[in-house]
Amino acid sequence: MSCPHQAADGVPLIHAVPDDVQADRERLYRAGPVTRVELPGGVRAWATTHHEVSKATLNDPRFRKSVDHWADYQEGRVPEGWPLLGTIPTDNTNMLALDGAAHRRLRQLTAGPFSARRVERLRPRIERITRLALDALEPRASETLDLKSEFTFRVPMAVIGELYGVSEAEYENLGEMYAKLFSGTTEEGEHLRIYGTLFQYFGELVARKRATLDEHDDFTADLIRASEDGDGLDDTEIVLTLLTVVAAGHETTVNLLTNVVRALLAHPEQLERLRGGEVTWEAVVEETLRYDPPNNLMMFRFATEDVEIGGRTIQKGEALLTHYGAASRDRAEFGEDPEVFDPDREKGRHISFGYGPHICPGAPLSRLEAGIILPMLFERFPDLGLAVPDEELEVASALSVNSLKAFPVVLRP
Ligand code: HEM
Repeated sequence: MSCPHQAADGVPLIHAVPDDVQADRERLYRAGPVTRVELPGGVRAWATTHHEVSKATLNDPRFRKSVDHWADYQEGRVPEGWPLLGTIPTDNTNMLALDGAAHRRLRQLTAGPFSARRVERLRPRIERITRLALDALEPRASETLDLKSEFTFRVPMAVIGELYGVSEAEYENLGEMYAKLFSGTTEEGEHLRIYGTLFQYFGELVARKRATLDEHDDFTADLIRASEDGDGLDDTEIVLTLLTVVAAGHETTVNLLTNVVRALLAHPEQLERLRGGEVTWEAVVEETLRYDPPNNLMMFRFATEDVEIGGRTIQKGEALLTHYGAASRDRAEFGEDPEVFDPDREKGRHISFGYGPHICPGAPLSRLEAGIILPMLFERFPDLGLAVPDEELEVASALSVNSLKAFPVVLRP
């Protein structure tokens, strides 16, 4: 009988929607540290599934992010409409797809507003947005509602939307497009249509702001002003930066918030300890980033020469993904019980925000948001509980973005 987790030749499969995300991480960890994998659609790559080897490859200049180095793609072996291409920038002008000096330039020009010191100033805005979102939930507090679409999505989207001057009317539509794109489960070619729509939307936003620049005081206006000083980004770069940052700025944080609430409801003893001050929110958030990373895996880097690592040879032109979910099971880093949600864990440092030159510039903002939004949620609705057993929660995707379809809860039973 064929194994549901292996291709015919024994290569482990990576599922977009595994039956059990945690068990799947364990399976891939055990296949590591570096393993050949097959992705949905039959495309093959390498995966790092242990901690140290993931750090080493994320920081190794022999692996580059541009698809120019991906032999299967360049030689036409990746179908044009392959849905997972929605998670890999193929344009070479995006921060996520650049390396070396071009990458450093783009990061310098765009990541400034997200330093820990500067994001701290956003605290009152995040508190206000959270309070309004909680107020909006009050009338239905005793009914079953989807905490994901109604809260854990709404707040980070409103924060990043406000920062970049995206109109509130667009939040839902943008959120749906991004969720589809990153799920890796789009119909053939659909990701290209979604990119087209997003590109047009942000293009119009930049043009509108440029025409009325004096009236705007947001990060998009800052990028446009910097471009007028001569040394900044051109319009295409600004559009691609918006497209990336608005996506990265909400989707992953949505899943972090969702995963923390889920972990606490599944571990009421930890929620009690949190309430009693025995454990901090910070410890709970960091352990959730390890235990259930918002990005289960990150695609791709490409070998620019043959690289021997973890007992395997990754050949020039081959693709490599980092499996954060599997690496978070690494006993050598986190101890013998990585399957346990333990906010007191002292051993190990997760790499769920990445590592090396592409390490997430938004980490301080996400941590700040989580540290404000989650305590406010539990303070307002201390008896918040799941409306269905945890085992019945449906996974939307556990590819690059690790997300639930919905998160049905009752806020005030
Ligand atoms: C990059 C995770 C929130 C903006 C990354 C990377 C990871 C990551 C793993 C590395 C990608 C790679 O190595 O290829 C997360 C997680 C978040 C989060 C888990 C929330 C819990 C944010 C936020 C923003 C943001 C709030 C924006 C404000 C970015 C950008 C990059 C990035 C622009 C690309 C950086 C580069 O290529 O140099 N993120 N992120 N992220 N993240 Fe985040």
